[in-house]
Amino acid sequence: MTKAERPVSLPSYPPSLRVVTMPSDINHHGVIFGGWLLAQIDAACFIPAATRACGYVASVAINAMTFESPVHSGDLVSIYTNIVRVGRTSMTIHVEVYTQRNVEKPEYHRVATGEWVFVAVDENHRPRPIPQESSAK
Ligand SMILES: CC(C)(COP(=O)(O)OP(=O)(O)OC[C@H]1O[C@@H](n2cnc3c(N)ncnc32)[C@H](O)[C@@H]1OP(=O)(O)O)[C@@H](O)C(=O)NCCC(=O)NCCS
Repeated sequence: MTKAERPVSLPSYPPSLRVVTMPSDINHHGVIFGGWLLAQIDAACFIPAATRACGYVASVAINAMTFESPVHSGDLVSIYTNIVRVGRTSMTIHVEVYTQRNVEKPEYHRVATGEWVFVAVDENHRPRPIPQESSAK
């Protein structure tokens, strides 16, 4: 059993997003297309970022993204996000993605990790300061 195949424990905090993969999301190798997972991560990060910034945010950078193990059709994907840095207008979000392959067997595998940067933007799509006093995630 490789490291990626070994079951792991989930983070102690709730996921930002959970979604079941569909046959339409697979690539020509029969596993989930990486771009599909990136779109889900983007949506998952938007939730804590917009909440923390008290308004609209835009993704500006993916500092790191590692796909550790393939995701299969029918997997339950859980995306965990954690704001690890808040700057003047930007924030960095650590992401961990886990799959549960068999719904009858609660066994989880970490399939991806990443670090995304979001910027709080105003109605003109220009950067705006993030309120410092908010403690929401
Ligand atoms: C987000 C956006 C408004 C920022 O505008 P900008 O002119 O680059 O803004 P600034 O240079 O003032 O930087 C704003 C913040 O973003 C950070 N930032 C900018 N580019 C960055 C990068 N490549 N990596 C990490 N942080 C970055 C800056 O450090 C700054 O953070 P701080 O205020 O906390 O110190 C602009 O880049 C944009 O519209 N990008 C497209 C966003 C988008 O459409 N996303 C969806 C992709 S399809």
